[in-house]
Amino acid sequence: MKTAIIIYSNTGNTRRAAQKLLEKLKSTGAEAEIREIQVSNAKPEGDMSRVQLTQTPSVEGFDRLVFASPVWAFSLSGVMKKYLSQLPKLTGNKISLFVTHQLPLPWMGGNRAIRQMKSICEEKGGDVVSTAVICANDARRERDTADMLRRLA
Ligand SMILES: Cc1cc2nc3c(=O)[nH]c(=O)nc-3n(C[C@H](O)[C@H](O)[C@H](O)COP(=O)(O)O)c2cc1C
Repeated sequence: MKTAIIIYSNTGNTRRAAQKLLEKLKSTGAEAEIREIQVSNAKPEGDMSRVQLTQTPSVEGFDRLVFASPVWAFSLSGVMKKYLSQLPKLTGNKISLFVTHQLPLPWMGGNRAIRQMKSICEEKGGDVVSTAVICANDARRERDTADMLRRLA
């Protein structure tokens, strides 16, 4: 089983959680790697038509895909939305999803962002098997990350 953890992270929270997932998967003997989406703008949260994806990781050759993104404005980040939309068919791929956010409750954007990711992946024929929402504030980060690892690793 070969897993690609494909992430977009602007300030590091999503990357840190992805790194934990990578370590956990590798500790069980799984083959896994992190692949990062890169964009042209340092602060890409505005008008996505002005944002170029400068690095679009390929999904070819992996049995399992994990997509991870921050929440922006109670939604999936525009960068991840743009990346997922340009992917080819995901038929036959097992897919896991997680998002990180800052506000204290999952309905303050986290759950909606997951629904948006799930919908794009399923439209492309992907099989979404697990999801998690991580609140990145100090009070919840550790517990939510542990929960993500239980669901996704
Ligand atoms: C433009 C912008 C909008 C955001 N909107 C939300 C939001 O609606 N809800 C929330 O909980 N966090 C929101 N956040 C906080 C981020 O989701 C959170 O800090 C996330 O962990 C950042 O991930 P990253 O460090 O991987 O970029 C927002 C952050 C930015 C920059």
